Amino acid sequence: MQYQETEVDDFSATVVLKSSEYSPNRCAYDNKKAGVWLFQADCIEFMDALIKQYPFGKFDMIFADPPYFLSNGGITCHAGKMVKVDKGKWDKSNGPELNHQFILDWLSRCQKILKPNGTIWVSGTHHVIYSVGYAMQQLGMKILNDITWEKPNPPPNLSCRYFTHSAETVIWAAKNEKSKHCFNYEKMREANNDKQMKTVWNIKAPAGNEKVFGKHPTQKPLQLLERIILASTNEDNLVFDPFSGSSTTGIAAIKNKRKFVGCELETDFIALSLKRLEMVINKMSENPDSSREI
Ligand SMILES: C[S@@+](CC[C@H](N)C(=O)[O-])C[C@H]1O[C@@H](n2cnc3c(N)ncnc32)[C@H](O)[C@@H]1O
Repeated sequence: MQYQETEVDDFSATVVLKSSEYSPNRCAYDNKKAGVWLFQADCIEFMDALIKQYPFGKFDMIFADPPYFLSNGGITCHAGKMVKVDKGKWDKSNGPELNHQFILDWLSRCQKILKPNGTIWVSGTHHVIYSVGYAMQQLGMKILNDITWEKPNPPPNLSCRYFTHSAETVIWAAKNEKSKHCFNYEKMREANNDKQMKTVWNIKAPAGNEKVFGKHPTQKPLQLLERIILASTNEDNLVFDPFSGSSTTGIAAIKNKRKFVGCELETDFIALSLKRLEMVINKMSENPDSSREI
Protein backbone atom coordinates (compact mmCIF):
# COMPACT_ATOMS: atom_id res chain seq x y z
CA MET A 1 0.00 0.00 0.00
CA GLN A 2 1.14 3.54 -0.79
CA TYR A 3 1.22 6.62 1.43
CA GLN A 4 -2.05 8.55 1.15
CA GLU A 5 -2.80 12.01 2.49
CA THR A 6 -5.40 11.78 5.28
CA GLU A 7 -7.63 14.83 5.34
CA VAL A 8 -9.02 14.92 8.85
CA ASP A 9 -6.63 16.22 11.47
CA ASP A 10 -8.51 15.39 14.63
CA PHE A 11 -5.89 13.80 16.80
CA SER A 12 -7.83 13.86 20.05
CA ALA A 13 -10.57 11.76 18.42
CA THR A 14 -8.48 9.47 16.25
CA VAL A 15 -5.43 8.62 18.39
CA VAL A 16 -6.28 5.97 20.98
CA LEU A 17 -4.33 6.56 24.19
CA LYS A 18 -4.27 4.65 27.47
CA SER A 19 -2.65 5.79 30.71
CA SER A 20 0.45 3.86 31.75
CA GLU A 21 2.97 3.65 34.57
CA TYR A 22 4.92 6.49 32.85
CA SER A 23 2.23 8.98 32.03
CA PRO A 24 -1.52 9.77 32.01
CA ASN A 25 -1.26 9.83 28.19
CA ARG A 26 -4.05 12.33 27.64
CA CYS A 27 -4.88 15.15 25.28
CA ALA A 28 -4.15 18.40 27.17
CA TYR A 29 -5.13 20.85 24.42
CA ASP A 30 -7.21 20.41 21.30
CA ASN A 31 -7.83 23.31 18.92
CA LYS A 32 -8.74 21.98 15.51
CA LYS A 33 -9.49 25.45 14.17
CA ALA A 34 -6.00 26.72 14.99
CA GLY A 35 -4.46 23.35 14.06
CA VAL A 36 -2.83 22.86 17.49
CA TRP A 37 -2.82 19.75 19.70
CA LEU A 38 -0.80 19.13 22.86
CA PHE A 39 -0.62 15.74 24.58
CA GLN A 40 0.65 14.97 28.07
CA ALA A 41 2.20 11.66 27.19
CA ASP A 42 5.30 9.53 27.09
CA CYS A 43 6.52 10.13 23.55
CA ILE A 44 7.30 6.46 22.87
CA GLU A 45 3.79 5.37 23.87
CA PHE A 46 2.28 8.34 22.03
CA MET A 47 4.14 7.61 18.80
CA ASP A 48 3.18 3.91 18.99
CA ALA A 49 -0.45 5.02 19.08
CA LEU A 50 0.11 7.44 16.18
CA ILE A 51 1.86 4.80 14.06
CA LYS A 52 -1.16 2.48 14.47
CA GLN A 53 -3.41 5.26 13.18
CA TYR A 54 -1.07 6.55 10.46
CA PRO A 55 1.16 3.62 9.40
CA PHE A 56 2.49 5.50 6.33
CA GLY A 57 3.45 8.67 8.18
CA LYS A 58 1.70 11.88 9.18
CA PHE A 59 4.16 14.72 9.85
CA ASP A 60 5.92 17.00 7.37
CA MET A 61 8.60 17.91 9.90
CA ILE A 62 9.71 16.90 13.40
CA PHE A 63 11.85 18.94 15.75
CA ALA A 64 13.19 16.91 18.69
CA ASP A 65 15.05 18.48 21.62
CA PRO A 66 15.53 15.30 23.68
CA PRO A 67 17.04 14.93 27.16
CA TYR A 68 20.80 15.63 26.89
CA PHE A 69 21.56 13.37 29.94
CA LEU A 70 23.36 16.29 31.59
CA SER A 71 22.00 16.21 35.13
CA ASN A 72 24.58 14.02 36.83
CA GLY A 73 26.08 16.12 39.61
CA GLY A 74 28.29 18.43 37.50
CA ILE A 75 28.39 22.19 38.07
CA THR A 76 27.47 25.18 35.96
CA CYS A 77 27.06 28.93 36.29
CA HIS A 78 23.55 30.34 36.65
CA ALA A 79 22.92 34.07 37.21
CA GLY A 80 26.55 34.49 38.30
CA LYS A 81 26.38 31.63 40.87
CA MET A 82 27.87 28.13 40.87
CA VAL A 83 24.98 25.62 40.84
CA LYS A 84 24.56 21.87 40.34
CA VAL A 85 23.31 20.80 36.92
CA ASP A 86 19.86 19.43 37.79
CA LYS A 87 17.26 19.93 35.09
CA GLY A 88 15.04 17.10 36.33
CA LYS A 89 14.74 13.31 36.62
CA TRP A 90 14.12 13.11 32.86
CA ASP A 91 17.65 14.43 32.18
CA LYS A 92 19.65 11.80 34.14
CA SER A 93 22.06 9.51 32.28
CA ASN A 94 21.63 5.71 32.34
CA GLY A 95 25.04 5.02 30.81
CA PRO A 96 26.04 5.02 27.12
CA GLU A 97 24.34 1.75 26.05
CA LEU A 98 20.93 2.48 27.61
CA ASN A 99 21.10 6.13 26.51
CA HIS A 100 21.76 5.00 22.92
CA GLN A 101 18.93 2.46 23.09
CA PHE A 102 16.56 5.22 24.26
CA ILE A 103 17.65 7.39 21.31
CA LEU A 104 17.04 4.49 18.90
CA ASP A 105 13.63 3.87 20.51
CA TRP A 106 12.26 7.40 19.98
CA LEU A 107 14.13 8.17 16.74
CA SER A 108 12.93 5.00 14.96
CA ARG A 109 9.35 5.94 15.83
CA CYS A 110 9.90 9.52 14.59
CA GLN A 111 11.18 8.05 11.31
CA LYS A 112 8.03 5.90 10.93
CA ILE A 113 5.66 8.78 11.64
CA LEU A 114 7.31 11.17 9.15
CA LYS A 115 5.73 11.47 5.70
CA PRO A 116 7.91 9.97 2.91
CA ASN A 117 9.43 13.38 2.13
CA GLY A 118 9.45 14.60 5.72
CA THR A 119 12.52 15.71 7.66
CA ILE A 120 13.63 15.70 11.28
CA TRP A 121 15.83 18.11 13.21
CA VAL A 122 17.47 16.91 16.44
CA SER A 123 19.37 19.21 18.79
CA GLY A 124 22.04 18.20 21.27
CA THR A 125 25.42 18.75 22.87
CA HIS A 126 28.32 16.28 22.78
CA HIS A 127 26.53 14.25 25.50
CA VAL A 128 23.99 12.92 22.97
CA ILE A 129 24.59 14.25 19.48
CA TYR A 130 27.15 11.63 18.33
CA SER A 131 24.78 8.90 19.45
CA VAL A 132 21.92 10.63 17.58
CA GLY A 133 24.05 10.82 14.40
CA TYR A 134 25.03 7.14 14.68
CA ALA A 135 21.40 6.12 15.32
CA MET A 136 20.34 8.04 12.19
CA GLN A 137 22.88 6.06 10.15
CA GLN A 138 21.74 2.77 11.72
CA LEU A 139 18.13 3.60 10.78
CA GLY A 140 18.98 4.50 7.16
CA MET A 141 18.05 8.16 7.49
CA LYS A 142 19.71 10.67 5.17
CA ILE A 143 21.70 13.32 7.04
CA LEU A 144 21.23 16.64 5.22
CA ASN A 145 23.17 19.15 7.36
CA ASP A 146 24.60 19.60 10.83
CA ILE A 147 23.89 23.09 12.08
CA THR A 148 26.09 24.70 14.73
CA TRP A 149 23.93 26.92 16.90
CA GLU A 150 26.47 29.40 18.25
CA LYS A 151 25.45 31.21 21.47
CA PRO A 152 26.89 34.73 21.61
CA ASN A 153 26.23 35.07 25.36
CA PRO A 154 27.13 31.72 27.04
CA PRO A 155 27.60 31.39 30.83
CA PRO A 156 31.31 31.38 31.83
CA ASN A 157 33.11 28.11 32.60
CA LEU A 158 33.67 28.37 36.35
CA SER A 159 36.11 25.43 36.64
CA CYS A 160 38.53 27.08 34.17
CA ARG A 161 39.52 23.56 33.09
CA TYR A 162 37.61 23.60 29.79
CA PHE A 163 36.76 26.03 27.00
CA THR A 164 33.46 27.84 27.61
CA HIS A 165 30.70 25.73 26.09
CA SER A 166 29.09 28.04 23.57
CA ALA A 167 27.42 25.93 20.89
CA GLU A 168 24.88 23.16 20.29
CA THR A 169 24.49 21.00 17.20
CA VAL A 170 21.22 20.50 15.35
CA ILE A 171 21.27 17.60 12.88
CA TRP A 172 18.82 17.85 9.98
CA ALA A 173 17.93 14.52 8.33
CA ALA A 174 15.42 13.12 5.84
CA LYS A 175 13.31 10.01 6.50
CA ASN A 176 15.46 7.94 4.13
CA GLU A 177 17.73 8.12 1.06
CA LYS A 178 14.71 8.30 -1.31
CA SER A 179 13.09 11.34 0.35
CA LYS A 180 12.68 14.49 -1.69
CA HIS A 181 13.01 16.92 1.18
CA CYS A 182 11.64 20.47 1.34
CA PHE A 183 14.28 23.23 1.57
CA ASN A 184 13.17 26.84 1.13
CA TYR A 185 16.50 27.93 -0.29
CA GLU A 186 15.38 31.37 -1.51
CA LYS A 187 13.74 32.23 1.81
CA MET A 188 16.94 31.38 3.69
CA ARG A 189 19.06 33.35 1.22
CA GLU A 190 16.75 36.35 1.57
CA ALA A 191 17.00 36.11 5.38
CA ASN A 192 20.80 36.17 5.04
CA ASN A 193 21.16 39.45 3.08
CA ASP A 194 20.96 37.67 -0.27
CA LYS A 195 23.87 35.31 0.47
CA GLN A 196 23.66 31.52 0.85
CA MET A 197 22.80 30.65 4.45
CA LYS A 198 25.70 28.85 6.15
CA THR A 199 25.49 26.05 8.72
CA VAL A 200 26.73 28.22 11.62
CA TRP A 201 23.85 30.17 13.14
CA ASN A 202 24.53 32.84 15.73
CA ILE A 203 21.38 33.11 17.85
CA LYS A 204 20.97 34.45 21.40
CA ALA A 205 19.51 32.34 24.24
CA PRO A 206 15.80 33.10 24.87
CA ALA A 207 15.26 36.63 26.18
CA GLY A 208 13.07 37.56 29.17
CA ASN A 209 10.07 38.29 26.93
CA GLU A 210 10.06 34.59 25.91
CA LYS A 211 9.78 33.57 29.58
CA VAL A 212 6.93 35.80 30.79
CA PHE A 213 4.80 32.80 31.82
CA GLY A 214 7.65 30.98 33.63
CA LYS A 215 10.86 29.16 32.81
CA HIS A 216 11.73 25.84 31.29
CA PRO A 217 15.33 24.81 32.16
CA THR A 218 16.25 24.04 28.55
CA GLN A 219 13.94 26.36 26.61
CA LYS A 220 15.08 26.97 23.03
CA PRO A 221 15.05 30.45 21.46
CA LEU A 222 12.05 31.20 19.27
CA GLN A 223 14.36 32.55 16.55
CA LEU A 224 16.07 29.14 16.21
CA LEU A 225 12.76 27.32 15.81
CA GLU A 226 11.40 29.89 13.38
CA ARG A 227 14.42 29.50 11.12
CA ILE A 228 14.10 25.71 11.21
CA ILE A 229 10.39 25.85 10.40
CA LEU A 230 10.76 28.43 7.62
CA ALA A 231 13.65 26.48 6.06
CA SER A 232 11.97 23.08 5.93
CA THR A 233 8.17 23.49 5.81
CA ASN A 234 5.43 25.35 3.97
CA GLU A 235 2.25 27.03 5.24
CA ASP A 236 -0.33 24.55 6.64
CA ASN A 237 2.30 21.80 7.03
CA LEU A 238 2.07 19.67 10.17
CA VAL A 239 4.97 19.93 12.64
CA PHE A 240 5.54 17.49 15.54
CA ASP A 241 7.68 17.84 18.67
CA PRO A 242 7.97 14.67 20.81
CA PHE A 243 9.76 16.50 23.70
CA SER A 244 7.90 19.78 23.52
CA GLY A 245 8.84 21.23 26.96
CA SER A 246 7.44 24.77 26.99
CA SER A 247 6.26 24.34 23.35
CA THR A 248 8.66 26.74 21.65
CA THR A 249 8.22 24.67 18.48
CA GLY A 250 4.45 25.17 18.71
CA ILE A 251 4.78 28.94 19.14
CA ALA A 252 7.08 29.15 16.09
CA ALA A 253 4.71 26.95 14.06
CA ILE A 254 1.58 28.98 14.87
CA LYS A 255 3.37 32.31 14.22
CA ASN A 256 4.28 31.03 10.78
CA LYS A 257 0.88 29.49 9.92
CA ARG A 258 1.88 25.84 10.34
CA LYS A 259 -0.05 23.21 12.35
CA PHE A 260 1.44 21.68 15.49
CA VAL A 261 1.26 18.48 17.53
CA GLY A 262 3.29 18.44 20.76
CA CYS A 263 3.99 15.77 23.36
CA GLU A 264 5.38 16.41 26.85
CA LEU A 265 5.61 14.27 29.99
CA GLU A 266 5.68 16.79 32.84
CA THR A 267 2.54 18.47 34.23
CA ASP A 268 4.31 21.79 34.97
CA PHE A 269 5.64 22.10 31.41
CA ILE A 270 2.19 21.29 30.00
CA ALA A 271 0.76 24.15 32.11
CA LEU A 272 3.50 26.52 30.89
CA SER A 273 2.91 25.43 27.28
CA LEU A 274 -0.83 26.07 27.51
CA LYS A 275 -0.25 29.67 28.60
CA ARG A 276 2.26 30.28 25.81
CA LEU A 277 0.16 28.57 23.12
CA GLU A 278 -3.06 30.35 24.07
CA MET A 279 -1.33 33.73 24.02
CA VAL A 280 0.00 33.25 20.49
CA ILE A 281 -3.24 31.67 19.16
CA ASN A 282 -5.26 34.62 20.53
CA LYS A 283 -2.87 37.19 19.06
CA MET A 284 -2.85 35.49 15.65
CA SER A 285 -6.64 35.13 15.57
CA GLU A 286 -7.11 38.81 16.47
CA ASN A 287 -4.64 39.84 13.77
CA PRO A 288 -3.10 37.21 11.44
CA ASP A 289 -0.33 39.70 10.57
CA SER A 290 0.73 40.22 14.19
CA SER A 291 3.47 37.57 14.06
CA ARG A 292 6.24 40.20 14.24
CA GLU A 293 4.99 41.35 17.65
CA ILE A 294 5.15 37.85 19.21
C1 LIG B 1 15.25 19.48 26.33
S1 LIG B 1 13.63 19.66 26.92
C2 LIG B 1 12.75 20.42 25.58
C3 LIG B 1 12.63 21.92 25.70
C4 LIG B 1 11.85 22.57 24.57
N1 LIG B 1 12.54 22.47 23.31
C5 LIG B 1 11.53 24.04 24.86
O1 LIG B 1 11.92 24.93 24.08
O2 LIG B 1 10.89 24.30 25.88
C6 LIG B 1 13.08 18.01 26.89
C7 LIG B 1 11.67 17.81 27.41
O3 LIG B 1 11.31 16.44 27.20
C8 LIG B 1 10.48 16.01 28.25
N2 LIG B 1 10.56 14.54 28.25
C9 LIG B 1 11.55 13.76 28.74
N3 LIG B 1 11.30 12.46 28.49
C10 LIG B 1 10.12 12.42 27.81
C11 LIG B 1 9.32 11.38 27.25
N4 LIG B 1 9.68 10.09 27.36
N5 LIG B 1 8.18 11.70 26.60
C12 LIG B 1 7.78 13.00 26.49
N6 LIG B 1 8.50 14.03 27.01
C13 LIG B 1 9.64 13.75 27.65
C14 LIG B 1 11.04 16.71 29.49
O4 LIG B 1 10.06 16.83 30.50
C15 LIG B 1 11.49 18.06 28.92
O5 LIG B 1 10.50 19.05 29.10
